[in-house]
Amino acid sequence: MQIFIDTADIDEIKEAQSLGVLDGVTTNPSLVAKTGKPFEACIKEILEVVPGPVSVEVVATDHDGMVAEAKTFASWADNVVVKVPIIREGLKAIKTLSDEGIKVNVTLCFSPMQALLAAKAGAAYISPFVGRLDDISTDGMELIQQVVDIYGNYAYDTEVLVASVRNPLHVVASALMGADVCTLPLKVIDQLLKHPLTDKGLEAFLADWEKVEKG
Ligand code: G3P
Repeated sequence: MQIFIDTADIDEIKEAQSLGVLDGVTTNPSLVAKTGKPFEACIKEILEVVPGPVSVEVVATDHDGMVAEAKTFASWADNVVVKVPIIREGLKAIKTLSDEGIKVNVTLCFSPMQALLAAKAGAAYISPFVGRLDDISTDGMELIQQVVDIYGNYAYDTEVLVASVRNPLHVVASALMGADVCTLPLKVIDQLLKHPLTDKGLEAFLADWEKVEKG
Protein backbone atom coordinates (compact mmCIF):
# COMPACT_ATOMS: atom_id res chain seq x y z
CA MET A 1 0.00 0.00 0.00
CA GLN A 2 1.28 3.45 -0.89
CA ILE A 3 1.49 6.13 1.79
CA PHE A 4 0.90 9.77 0.89
CA ILE A 5 1.02 12.70 3.28
CA ASP A 6 -2.08 14.90 3.45
CA THR A 7 -0.61 18.36 3.96
CA ALA A 8 0.74 21.41 2.15
CA ASP A 9 3.26 22.13 4.91
CA ILE A 10 6.73 21.75 3.39
CA ASP A 11 8.42 20.99 6.72
CA GLU A 12 5.96 18.16 7.42
CA ILE A 13 6.51 16.82 3.90
CA LYS A 14 10.30 16.87 4.34
CA GLU A 15 10.00 15.17 7.73
CA ALA A 16 7.78 12.42 6.28
CA GLN A 17 10.16 12.02 3.33
CA SER A 18 13.10 11.54 5.67
CA LEU A 19 11.36 8.42 7.05
CA GLY A 20 11.82 6.78 3.65
CA VAL A 21 8.25 5.51 3.28
CA LEU A 22 6.55 8.42 1.55
CA ASP A 23 5.12 7.82 -1.93
CA GLY A 24 3.29 11.09 -2.60
CA VAL A 25 1.42 14.14 -1.33
CA THR A 26 -2.18 15.30 -1.36
CA THR A 27 -3.21 18.91 -0.82
CA ASN A 28 -6.49 20.77 -0.84
CA PRO A 29 -7.44 24.47 -0.60
CA SER A 30 -7.89 24.24 3.20
CA LEU A 31 -4.43 22.71 3.66
CA VAL A 32 -2.82 25.36 1.44
CA ALA A 33 -4.66 28.12 3.36
CA LYS A 34 -3.19 26.76 6.61
CA THR A 35 0.37 27.39 5.35
CA GLY A 36 -0.31 31.13 4.87
CA LYS A 37 1.68 30.97 1.60
CA PRO A 38 0.53 32.06 -1.88
CA PHE A 39 -1.00 29.06 -3.69
CA GLU A 40 1.35 28.74 -6.66
CA ALA A 41 4.51 29.26 -4.60
CA CYS A 42 3.31 26.75 -2.02
CA ILE A 43 2.63 24.03 -4.61
CA LYS A 44 5.82 24.66 -6.57
CA GLU A 45 7.87 24.37 -3.38
CA ILE A 46 6.31 20.93 -2.80
CA LEU A 47 6.92 19.89 -6.41
CA GLU A 48 10.61 20.76 -6.06
CA VAL A 49 11.14 18.19 -3.31
CA VAL A 50 8.62 15.42 -4.05
CA PRO A 51 9.23 13.05 -6.99
CA GLY A 52 5.99 11.09 -6.45
CA PRO A 53 2.41 12.13 -7.27
CA VAL A 54 1.34 15.51 -5.84
CA SER A 55 -2.40 16.19 -5.87
CA VAL A 56 -3.40 19.81 -6.49
CA GLU A 57 -7.07 20.79 -6.30
CA VAL A 58 -9.03 22.96 -8.72
CA VAL A 59 -11.40 25.57 -7.30
CA ALA A 60 -13.43 26.28 -10.44
CA THR A 61 -16.82 24.56 -10.40
CA ASP A 62 -17.53 24.56 -14.16
CA HIS A 63 -16.02 22.18 -16.72
CA ASP A 64 -14.05 24.76 -18.72
CA GLY A 65 -12.72 26.47 -15.62
CA MET A 66 -11.62 23.16 -14.07
CA VAL A 67 -9.91 22.06 -17.27
CA ALA A 68 -8.09 25.39 -17.63
CA GLU A 69 -6.85 25.25 -14.02
CA ALA A 70 -5.86 21.61 -14.43
CA LYS A 71 -3.79 22.36 -17.52
CA THR A 72 -1.96 25.13 -15.68
CA PHE A 73 -1.16 22.80 -12.75
CA ALA A 74 -0.09 20.01 -15.11
CA SER A 75 2.34 22.41 -16.82
CA TRP A 76 4.21 22.88 -13.52
CA ALA A 77 5.56 19.31 -13.29
CA ASP A 78 5.06 15.81 -14.67
CA ASN A 79 4.06 14.40 -11.26
CA VAL A 80 1.07 16.74 -10.77
CA VAL A 81 -2.24 14.97 -10.24
CA VAL A 82 -5.25 17.25 -10.53
CA LYS A 83 -7.89 16.97 -7.83
CA VAL A 84 -11.44 17.42 -9.08
CA PRO A 85 -14.61 17.24 -6.95
CA ILE A 86 -17.22 14.63 -7.89
CA ILE A 87 -19.96 17.01 -9.03
CA ARG A 88 -21.74 17.08 -12.42
CA GLU A 89 -19.26 19.49 -14.05
CA GLY A 90 -16.42 17.69 -12.34
CA LEU A 91 -17.41 14.39 -13.94
CA LYS A 92 -17.22 16.00 -17.38
CA ALA A 93 -13.82 17.48 -16.51
CA ILE A 94 -12.50 14.09 -15.32
CA LYS A 95 -13.32 12.62 -18.72
CA THR A 96 -11.79 15.52 -20.66
CA LEU A 97 -8.60 15.55 -18.61
CA SER A 98 -8.17 11.77 -18.52
CA ASP A 99 -8.62 11.60 -22.30
CA GLU A 100 -5.84 14.19 -22.60
CA GLY A 101 -3.50 12.16 -20.38
CA ILE A 102 -3.76 14.38 -17.29
CA LYS A 103 -4.09 12.28 -14.13
CA VAL A 104 -7.12 13.08 -11.99
CA ASN A 105 -7.71 12.40 -8.30
CA VAL A 106 -11.46 12.57 -7.72
CA THR A 107 -12.17 14.14 -4.36
CA LEU A 108 -15.08 14.59 -1.94
CA CYS A 109 -16.31 11.06 -2.63
CA PHE A 110 -18.89 9.85 -0.11
CA SER A 111 -20.74 7.08 -1.97
CA PRO A 112 -19.90 3.93 -3.97
CA MET A 113 -21.84 5.21 -6.98
CA GLN A 114 -19.80 8.42 -7.08
CA ALA A 115 -16.73 6.16 -7.11
CA LEU A 116 -18.16 4.06 -9.97
CA LEU A 117 -18.83 7.15 -12.08
CA ALA A 118 -15.32 8.50 -11.39
CA ALA A 119 -13.77 5.22 -12.57
CA LYS A 120 -15.94 5.15 -15.70
CA ALA A 121 -14.81 8.71 -16.51
CA GLY A 122 -11.18 7.59 -16.33
CA ALA A 123 -10.01 8.85 -12.92
CA ALA A 124 -6.51 7.80 -11.86
CA TYR A 125 -7.51 7.92 -8.16
CA ILE A 126 -10.75 8.03 -6.17
CA SER A 127 -10.61 9.69 -2.74
CA PRO A 128 -13.38 8.50 -0.42
CA PHE A 129 -13.36 10.60 2.79
CA VAL A 130 -13.63 8.10 5.64
CA GLY A 131 -13.19 10.41 8.65
CA ARG A 132 -15.91 12.82 7.57
CA LEU A 133 -18.33 9.89 7.19
CA ASP A 134 -17.40 8.60 10.65
CA ASP A 135 -18.08 12.14 11.93
CA ILE A 136 -21.72 11.80 10.88
CA SER A 137 -22.08 8.30 12.38
CA THR A 138 -21.64 6.49 9.05
CA ASP A 139 -18.95 3.84 8.74
CA GLY A 140 -16.32 5.36 6.42
CA MET A 141 -14.42 2.11 6.03
CA GLU A 142 -17.55 0.34 4.77
CA LEU A 143 -17.38 2.71 1.79
CA ILE A 144 -13.77 1.68 1.14
CA GLN A 145 -14.74 -1.99 1.13
CA GLN A 146 -17.58 -1.27 -1.30
CA VAL A 147 -15.34 0.69 -3.67
CA VAL A 148 -12.57 -1.92 -3.56
CA ASP A 149 -15.13 -4.65 -4.32
CA ILE A 150 -16.82 -2.73 -7.14
CA TYR A 151 -13.54 -1.80 -8.82
CA GLY A 152 -12.39 -5.41 -8.46
CA ASN A 153 -15.59 -6.73 -10.04
CA TYR A 154 -14.98 -4.73 -13.20
CA ALA A 155 -11.18 -4.50 -13.16
CA TYR A 156 -11.13 -0.68 -13.15
CA ASP A 157 -7.61 0.76 -13.03
CA THR A 158 -8.65 3.66 -10.78
CA GLU A 159 -6.67 3.50 -7.54
CA VAL A 160 -8.52 3.69 -4.22
CA LEU A 161 -6.93 6.51 -2.20
CA VAL A 162 -8.28 6.52 1.35
CA ALA A 163 -8.62 10.16 2.49
CA SER A 164 -9.77 12.02 5.59
CA VAL A 165 -7.89 9.44 7.66
CA ARG A 166 -7.95 10.21 11.38
CA ASN A 167 -6.25 7.27 13.11
CA PRO A 168 -4.16 4.10 12.62
CA LEU A 169 -7.25 1.86 12.65
CA HIS A 170 -8.33 3.44 9.35
CA VAL A 171 -4.91 2.51 7.94
CA VAL A 172 -4.98 -1.09 9.19
CA ALA A 173 -8.46 -1.60 7.73
CA SER A 174 -7.41 0.02 4.44
CA ALA A 175 -4.44 -2.33 4.10
CA LEU A 176 -6.56 -5.38 4.93
CA MET A 177 -9.13 -4.33 2.33
CA GLY A 178 -6.45 -3.88 -0.31
CA ALA A 179 -6.85 -0.11 -0.80
CA ASP A 180 -4.08 1.20 -3.05
CA VAL A 181 -3.15 4.35 -1.12
CA CYS A 182 -3.75 6.00 2.25
CA THR A 183 -3.13 9.73 2.57
CA LEU A 184 -2.26 10.58 6.14
CA PRO A 185 -1.60 13.63 8.29
CA LEU A 186 1.94 13.52 9.76
CA LYS A 187 0.40 12.80 13.17
CA VAL A 188 -1.09 9.53 11.90
CA ILE A 189 2.18 8.53 10.19
CA ASP A 190 3.85 8.98 13.60
CA GLN A 191 1.11 6.94 15.28
CA LEU A 192 1.74 4.03 12.87
CA LEU A 193 5.28 3.82 14.13
CA LYS A 194 4.65 4.07 17.84
CA HIS A 195 4.13 1.12 20.17
CA PRO A 196 4.55 1.36 23.96
CA LEU A 197 6.17 -2.09 24.12
CA THR A 198 8.78 -0.98 21.56
CA ASP A 199 9.66 2.03 23.73
CA LYS A 200 9.63 -0.03 26.93
CA GLY A 201 11.73 -2.80 25.35
CA LEU A 202 14.31 -0.36 24.01
CA GLU A 203 14.54 1.38 27.38
CA ALA A 204 15.24 -1.98 29.05
CA PHE A 205 17.84 -2.99 26.43
CA LEU A 206 19.68 0.31 26.83
CA ALA A 207 19.56 0.10 30.63
CA ASP A 208 20.96 -3.46 30.53
CA TRP A 209 23.63 -2.39 28.04
CA GLU A 210 24.96 -0.03 30.72
CA LYS A 211 25.61 -3.10 32.93
CA VAL A 212 27.64 -4.88 30.23
CA GLU A 213 31.40 -4.74 30.58
CA LYS A 214 32.72 -2.98 27.47
CA GLY A 215 35.98 -3.61 25.66
O1 G3P B 1 -7.32 15.93 1.52
C1 G3P B 1 -8.61 15.48 1.68
C2 G3P B 1 -8.92 14.85 3.02
O2 G3P B 1 -7.90 13.99 3.41
C3 G3P B 1 -9.35 15.82 4.07
O3 G3P B 1 -9.33 15.29 5.36
O4 G3P B 1 -9.42 15.59 7.81
O5 G3P B 1 -10.17 17.47 6.32
O6 G3P B 1 -11.54 15.40 6.55
P1 G3P B 1 -10.16 15.97 6.56
